[in-house]
Amino acid sequence: MYEKLLSPAKFGPWDLSSHIVMPPLTRNRAEADYSPNDRAPEYYGQRNTAGLVICEATQVSPEATGYPRTPGIWTQKQTAKWTEVVDAIHAGGAKAVLQLWHCGRIGHPDNQPEGCFPMGPSAVRPGLPIYTDTAQDVVENPVPREMDEDDILGVIESYRKACENAKAAGFDGVELHAANGYLVDQFASTNTNLRTDKWGGDLEARLLFMREVLKAMASVFTAECVGVRMSPYGTFNDIQDADPNAKYEGMLKVCEEFGVGYVHIIRPVVSGNIQLEASGRDVEVIDTARRLFSGPLIAAAGYTPESAEKELREGRADLVAFGRAFVSNPDLVNRIAEGIPFTEGDPDTYYTPGQTGYTDYLKAS
Ligand SMILES: Cc1cc2nc3c(=O)[nH]c(=O)nc-3n(C[C@H](O)[C@H](O)[C@H](O)COP(=O)(O)O)c2cc1C
Repeated sequence: MYEKLLSPAKFGPWDLSSHIVMPPLTRNRAEADYSPNDRAPEYYGQRNTAGLVICEATQVSPEATGYPRTPGIWTQKQTAKWTEVVDAIHAGGAKAVLQLWHCGRIGHPDNQPEGCFPMGPSAVRPGLPIYTDTAQDVVENPVPREMDEDDILGVIESYRKACENAKAAGFDGVELHAANGYLVDQFASTNTNLRTDKWGGDLEARLLFMREVLKAMASVFTAECVGVRMSPYGTFNDIQDADPNAKYEGMLKVCEEFGVGYVHIIRPVVSGNIQLEASGRDVEVIDTARRLFSGPLIAAAGYTPESAEKELREGRADLVAFGRAFVSNPDLVNRIAEGIPFTEGDPDTYYTPGQTGYTDYLKAS
């Protein structure tokens, strides 16, 4: 019934066991030193029957942090723990990719290592609150510090170093988090980038940061092992571009120029973890990606096995990701193959510490 979805896939340099992707899923269970927690290898190992596992958004440097309990890959200890995660993923035959993240203006110093403060392209406060463990509640996002040239060059270098660590940990590839209103998206967008130097101004200039980061990443992993995730028309984290389609097309053109390994699209039917009304743009954004990017495409957000199979058969996507379903169904691939109903996840434990809602979802017997 889901022959295409379940069949092996050739994806860039990788041979995958199926067309099913576990997309990056932040779980806020990292240690105080920003290392993945001791259960992370088990959690990812439970899900290693996906064709491709893209590990949760992972910060490239201390300054890149923003939320509580989110992992990094700038220390040896963090890298060693990621090595265990990669081994657990590879043990099931899946390929392992790490999503690289800089939160930019989204964050609070209470969630960051000592001495850090959120920074962004411009000093524009996000119009939304943020949770901190210190307050045990949401608090106002501070006005970010405007990055100077040294900050920008330092961040680009931190992406390069993070790639070196990801390579040392054994990851097959890395994915640039250019979605959901984080730093790359903040540079690209008109409401968050008010700069008048070479890093701001017209779209071309606003995309310079993305280009330079990709250049740094592709100096460690070859371009075909570097993917890019985008959220066209997304407004998550208070991103409001004057022309969201132009921004999206511009980002795709950068991906095409660089010959990145894949583009990963979050369709505008889910924002964060909230389901939206379908607007027809879910179809349009895939068409646009196919028109402007000649490499492989991962489509994400709001898919069922039926709609995924259809998308693949019609050649609209090369792989399909299932996010929330993978949280609560570690054996998702088997469930799809055997027609076993999915377990409903509990959004209340998406981002909470501890085992509940993390490693305790059972495989169907
Ligand atoms: C708990 C949770 C955490 C997420 N974390 C990330 C993340 O770290 N990086 C990212 O790009 N998207 C993240 N997303 C978005 C998912 O990768 C995915 O695109 C979204 O859940 C929509 O797909 P779905 O309808 O199959 O769940 C997250 C979503 C959820 C529910």
